[in-house]
Amino acid sequence: MIDHYDGVRAFDWKGDGLLLLDQRLLPHLTEYVHCRTAEEVADAIRGMAVRGAPAIGIAAAYGVVLAVRQHGLATECSRQSVFHEIDRLAESRPTAVNLFWALDRMRRLLDRGAGLAQVEQEARAIHEEDLLANHRMGAFGAALIEPGLDVLTHCNTGSLATAGLGTALGVIRTAYSEKRIGRVFADETRPWLQGARLTAWELKEDGIPVTLICEGAAASLLRTGKVGWVIVGADRIAANGDTANKIGTYGLAIMARRHGVKFMVVAPTTTFDLSLPTGEGIPIETRPMDEVTSLGGRPIAPAGVDAWNPSFDVTPAELIDAIVTERGVIHQPTVERVRAVLGGL
Ligand code: MRU
Repeated sequence: MIDHYDGVRAFDWKGDGLLLLDQRLLPHLTEYVHCRTAEEVADAIRGMAVRGAPAIGIAAAYGVVLAVRQHGLATECSRQSVFHEIDRLAESRPTAVNLFWALDRMRRLLDRGAGLAQVEQEARAIHEEDLLANHRMGAFGAALIEPGLDVLTHCNTGSLATAGLGTALGVIRTAYSEKRIGRVFADETRPWLQGARLTAWELKEDGIPVTLICEGAAASLLRTGKVGWVIVGADRIAANGDTANKIGTYGLAIMARRHGVKFMVVAPTTTFDLSLPTGEGIPIETRPMDEVTSLGGRPIAPAGVDAWNPSFDVTPAELIDAIVTERGVIHQPTVERVRAVLGGL
């Protein structure tokens, strides 16, 4: 049943190359970037052809396979070249910890002496495990939603941002299939418009009713009482539950609390960074000013004006009602509750 609402896929692994649905061109064009080298994968991540925390981890894992194909592992020199490619992949974006998690997993495998076949198998496993985790989170998260109200989401956390189904959007897809929600409100998500271009497109493709709003309309929407939950994804979650996600998420959490609307974060355990006690240590990507001062390549502000463009913000754990993982739900997150669900991660 749920598969009926999950038709979109961001990746197509070909064995000797990775096809990535170019997310910069959606919703107007469905074209693929064909990556044949690890460097091309790193460029695709940096350039946002593929984006979303789990998706960039999966892409990077396949990038390592391409590096091994390209350089081989026969000599110390070729191994060094592969590790150099891994370092390059790690430099592509700083905030989503899934990228570093996936690369560490691949690096550990190579350290144990794995060959090409095992490296490819590991990348496929990372890909498949993510889809499985999303289905589990979908079930856990949907069960929290009392039927009768709508939901609001931010950015894109769907099949485009993951191996399939999505994190927050996976919960939303599941809840819709179980008739717990009737409509999804999607923030447009300036400046990259992931909500308008990607979330609205995915939901329309799958026949789930979606209403797009400007970020500025969120408080007014929450005030109407139509929305029962704000549901978002995450790029990195600290040991106490503080959550980095797309810029604007923190503001939404404050608005939700003000209006008595529940706030849910949905993320696989690969998004946790337990080395950070709080969200203060999470590196926040700052992107170019022209993403704010122009739209679709056209200037929308006076030439030379200053702009600030942080790509993510950190929502304090105290504003979060539930973090949904594939291992279970962390209600009102604290260090102890995170540890109880994540165990010895
Ligand atoms: O800059 P992006 O588009 O990579 O940011 C994506 C987000 O912030 C998502 O909400 C997050 O990665 C969770 S995706 C399942």
